[in-house]
Amino acid sequence: MGYVDIHGHYAWNIDDGIQSLQEAKKALNKARKQGISTIVATPHVTCGKTTKAEIEMLRLRIAELQELANKYHIEVIAGCEFMLNDEVYQAMDQVLFIPIEDTHYLLCEYDVRKPSEAFTENFDAYIREVTLHGYTPIIAHIERYFHDGIDLEYVQYLKSLGCLMQVNTTSLLGLSSKVHQENAHILLNHQLIHFIATDTHRVKPPRSPNMQKCFYFLYKQGYTKKYLNLMMRENPRRILRDRQALDLENIKGLTHFRFVLKILHQFVPVKKSYK
Ligand SMILES: [Fe+2]
Repeated sequence: MGYVDIHGHYAWNIDDGIQSLQEAKKALNKARKQGISTIVATPHVTCGKTTKAEIEMLRLRIAELQELANKYHIEVIAGCEFMLNDEVYQAMDQVLFIPIEDTHYLLCEYDVRKPSEAFTENFDAYIREVTLHGYTPIIAHIERYFHDGIDLEYVQYLKSLGCLMQVNTTSLLGLSSKVHQENAHILLNHQLIHFIATDTHRVKPPRSPNMQKCFYFLYKQGYTKKYLNLMMRENPRRILRDRQALDLENIKGLTHFRFVLKILHQFVPVKKSYK
């Protein structure tokens, strides 16, 4: 059973991801070598910006990617990475997004260039709008919105609103910033992650198809294969069948060193209350 990569910009020449057909072929080849058997194609879609015609164009390119990926024995599922902002209300009403194919799951993001305070002040209202329309938001690279260290209480709050959490392999591998790496590892240690995905933008690192690399990197750090498989295979497969993802927070025995790691991270600052 291969890895299921629920976040990637493999559909070429439509956003800041893979730029050409040639590069898409190389990326699929690399994905196959990294043991990835299923990819959710998640091109960027922005509330208030992406039009109906553009959504149709994205769907056509994803269909082309599906055909191409067959040659590499990779299944491609349609989706998008939906950037939430003040225009979310209209975008939801007009269905200007692509949920993960045949499911009620929607990969959502916030503008990572904005201050963390803007994220914690605004994001919950957007999320409520998404859930109101019957979709379960999967928060893309949750570790990337906290520029001064993770706010676990806010992550818990988003979880209480029905969100699932995705973290990038790149952050866990330390190929992004130091703070992203720390945030990702604290989330992993607190078992607050539902999915690990590559967010592939290029063939070459940092954001490249690197699932297997990440799997063994984390395994060597003491996380069990069972835990890693839940986030990289089992939970993704569940949502692709429109079933509920497993909440890993209270499952025991997922890490060899969990107790030690808990002690190391017990001083993570809790910033404020979100009720
Ligand atoms: Fe992305």
